[in-house]
Amino acid sequence: MIRNEEERTSQFIDQRVCKLCDIHDFEDPEFGKLAVDIFGDPAISALHHRKLWEFTITVKALQRYGLWNRDSRGLSVAAGFERVLYYMTNFTGRIVATDIYGEGDFIDLEATGDFLINPEKYRPYEYERERLSALKMNALNLHFPKNLFDFAFCLSSIEHFGGVSNAAVAISEMGNVVRPGGLVIVTTDCSIDGSSSDQVFSPAEIKRLVKKSGLELVEDIDFYISPDSQGLLLDMLKDNLDSLPHINLKFMRSKFTSICLVFQKKGREDNIKRIDDQEFDRTISKLSSEQYPTKLPIWAYWGILKVNLFARYQRGLFRIMKLMGNT
Ligand SMILES: C[S@@+](CC[C@H](N)C(=O)[O-])C[C@H]1O[C@@H](n2cnc3c(N)ncnc32)[C@H](O)[C@@H]1O
Repeated sequence: MIRNEEERTSQFIDQRVCKLCDIHDFEDPEFGKLAVDIFGDPAISALHHRKLWEFTITVKALQRYGLWNRDSRGLSVAAGFERVLYYMTNFTGRIVATDIYGEGDFIDLEATGDFLINPEKYRPYEYERERLSALKMNALNLHFPKNLFDFAFCLSSIEHFGGVSNAAVAISEMGNVVRPGGLVIVTTDCSIDGSSSDQVFSPAEIKRLVKKSGLELVEDIDFYISPDSQGLLLDMLKDNLDSLPHINLKFMRSKFTSICLVFQKKGREDNIKRIDDQEFDRTISKLSSEQYPTKLPIWAYWGILKVNLFARYQRGLFRIMKLMGNT
């Protein structure tokens, strides 16, 4: 739905959090400043990249819902060594990063095993070391006690978990370990032309995912993108992906950008006993010394297989097309 200019302007002042990435989001002075802060280079005054948008809207949601403070404890699922982990340690109480470190398709990339031993190696800037822990854990089977965290987030990852069903399992797992009143924040890829592929959800699939997760969004999803933003398309097979603005991508016939979904867990907060920092740290360090067998329902493996095969096909095709383009 294309809204008129006046409504569009008010959208950016009001800054919703369940929405598609739009180039104009960076025009909101608070949002723009936060993005630059998270990126961490004072020489750069604007960096129009959907990955930075994902980090920024996550922090924005935490600020809006009162979770951006030193008491707040957060869990990142399928975290890799994302920059925002380090940023968060400077403002919140505790951040726990989980991923299948040392395994899977991203073993030589974000899921590198040495992050577990030496998170400092990947720091983009100074951070509070004692506030960051890393654990190996599968997103589809989280082993934390219920209600342990004030918030959980998962960025650019649920599309790799094996379709809508597995992505919904991951969201409801996050909901389990977040206390009532806490937030679950997810960013993923959403098509902007109605198409879908194994790793890009269509708007209809996003709605199905929300329903299946069993959690409630803080607001309706806004699938609007401005005409200015729609025109910003990088072709993954032809264009230099380092060029900016990096807002929408095209792979074969599928066009997509990032979407952010913010859920709030329902229930009575006053029923939950809050543990102190020492006990929290003991819980996390006990978990990090354990090995968890990942027990998934049998149907979850079908989704994982499909996604892995598709990723391999996509990478092969990507290489061939690049080679052809370069000869
Ligand atoms: C594209 S990377 C994103 C990493 C990070 N969130 C970021 O934004 O930079 C996708 C991540 O999902 C992780 N992943 C895939 N399947 C997973 C699973 N079942 N459980 C936990 N992590 C998983 C990968 O290991 C990888 O680190």
